[in-house]
Amino acid sequence: MPDIESILQKYPFIHQENIIPILTEIQDSFGFLSTEAIKKVGDYFKIPTSKIYGLATFYGKFRFQAKGKYHIRICNGTSCHINLNTIVLKELYKMLGIQDGEVTKNGLFSIERTGCLCGCDAGPVMVVNDKTYLNLNIDKVHEIIHFYMQIDT
Ligand code: FES
Repeated sequence: MPDIESILQKYPFIHQENIIPILTEIQDSFGFLSTEAIKKVGDYFKIPTSKIYGLATFYGKFRFQAKGKYHIRICNGTSCHINLNTIVLKELYKMLGIQDGEVTKNGLFSIERTGCLCGCDAGPVMVVNDKTYLNLNIDKVHEIIHFYMQIDT
């Protein structure tokens, strides 16, 4: 895995249009943008950290916390909302003891609400890492979470 300095050195020309590609590469390497990474990018461009952070938060693709081993993305699109995704989401919050954007203390799970996950006719939909789960209800959520918990016992 490259370090942040080696990523920055790939962009010897300090043009501001390189900031997003650099942040993207850092996130691809580390899974999220840490405070340290944002500060290093700011120092490299001689731009205040707050401006780099402001730019990064403008784009929905950037994360500012590490993901859990099992990263749960739950659809917050209109169709899933109509199909009661909020019930599923509340159950996930209750089971895991975390909210959207957080990671469980043991590092196993993280939750992220997202836009449409392309399963609108079978909502609510969630994706755990790369595996998609459709037509969710409370029982299915229990089954799925227990499955991943068992893998790590
Ligand atoms: S709205 Fe949820 S999958 Fe499309």
